[in-house]
Amino acid sequence: MNILIVGSGGREHAVAKSFARSSKVKRIIVCPGNAGIAKQYECVSLSDHLSILQFCHAEDVHMVFIGPEQAIAEGLSDYLAKSGIAVVAPSKQAAQLECSKMFAKDLMIRAGIPTAKYIKAFSKEEALKAVSHFSYPVVIKADGLAAGKGVCVAQDSCEAATAIDMLFAHNDGYESSNASGAVIEEFLSGWEVSLFAFCDGEGYQTSLFAQDHKQIFDHDLGPNTGGMGAVCPVPKAEKYRSEIEATIISPILQAMRENGTPYKGILYCGLMITKDGPKVIEFNCRLGDPEAEVLLPLIETDFVDICSAMISGNILELDLRFSTNTAVGVVMASKGYPGKYEKGYPISIRRTNTEGIYFSGVAENESGLVSAGGRVMCIVGVGNDLTSARVNAYANISDIHFDNAYYRTDIGLRSNDL
Ligand code: AMP
Ligand code: GLY
Repeated sequence: MNILIVGSGGREHAVAKSFARSSKVKRIIVCPGNAGIAKQYECVSLSDHLSILQFCHAEDVHMVFIGPEQAIAEGLSDYLAKSGIAVVAPSKQAAQLECSKMFAKDLMIRAGIPTAKYIKAFSKEEALKAVSHFSYPVVIKADGLAAGKGVCVAQDSCEAATAIDMLFAHNDGYESSNASGAVIEEFLSGWEVSLFAFCDGEGYQTSLFAQDHKQIFDHDLGPNTGGMGAVCPVPKAEKYRSEIEATIISPILQAMRENGTPYKGILYCGLMITKDGPKVIEFNCRLGDPEAEVLLPLIETDFVDICSAMISGNILELDLRFSTNTAVGVVMASKGYPGKYEKGYPISIRRTNTEGIYFSGVAENESGLVSAGGRVMCIVGVGNDLTSARVNAYANISDIHFDNAYYRTDIGLRSNDL
């Protein structure tokens, strides 16, 4: 079959590699992809929903996998599904679980799902008043999509006031598509882990746990980024799996059905394991990046079968199997990210096996691949335990060079003790 993958990052590169492992797949096309992905897979640039649909018809595309939340929020999934295309992504309505923090929080409370206490605010004044009901640190979130930049953990009233000012001023720090509202919430202490559920609108099966490293610097210091590295699986989280399924995933999917917005697709549950048990930090309507780069290589079940089962409603019959290996992914970024950074530096790769390389912010000029974004690529090492996966990931990195490259040296070393 022919597959179209929508998106342009390391996550979509990982999705392409997963489909490529399936004997059922004849052709993989990534839209728009990037210059690195284009070394391995066909990439096309299609500017709007109609051109994507026309491409699918003209090129006999059987399945479309949508990677980024923005495309899902814009209704691409509904648009293609309406025309009979098999789409791996939730509907626009179901994607509110990620696209509106208020929608997600209200539904969680109605369904009795453990999450941080919160107050909704629709103006600067309401937000400042809401903050006074919490102790510090307090968490301030823009209501809409914010490309990973919509959350501020404010340590004191000064930081809170600045964050609220920025949020309601539609400032750069909050590139929210819907910054007319904010959620002010209680700070949860504990350790973070993510769990992905493959959902078919009724049933679901969960994946391995993964752990992102969001801060820019080693030891989880500095500002948050889209993710600087990830590890999969997270053995320590296993003892919480049945509790997470029973108190979080089953009830949210039931609440989505009752709300008339059944969830079909991959559900990303961002969790905080607190001393009172697992609580939801956020839901996302997609795979994470760089979580996809460490989770997908460990899936042994044919990826087409997983996607087909979500679409056709047979997820409970799927034999979902995972490797017992560990994967560690380290993001190579441009120095300065998540703030200002320089780009255009030539990338040299001294290795022929590119299996563990997932390209994000890269472009091509006369000299070959050059850095072109904040997160440039994710380098993954797989091994039979965490130590060997880490060794492999960092050995792979030593084969790659570009000026101004920056990466964390401690991916996978975090202590998970409460
Ligand atoms: P989010 O975009 O909601 O995942 O938030 C980004 C990051 O902010 C999370 O990965 C957490 O590290 C942190 N965060 C968000 N909400 C909370 C909370 N209620 N308590 C503690 N940390 C939080
Ligand atoms: N790595 C976090 C995310 O994809 O949202």
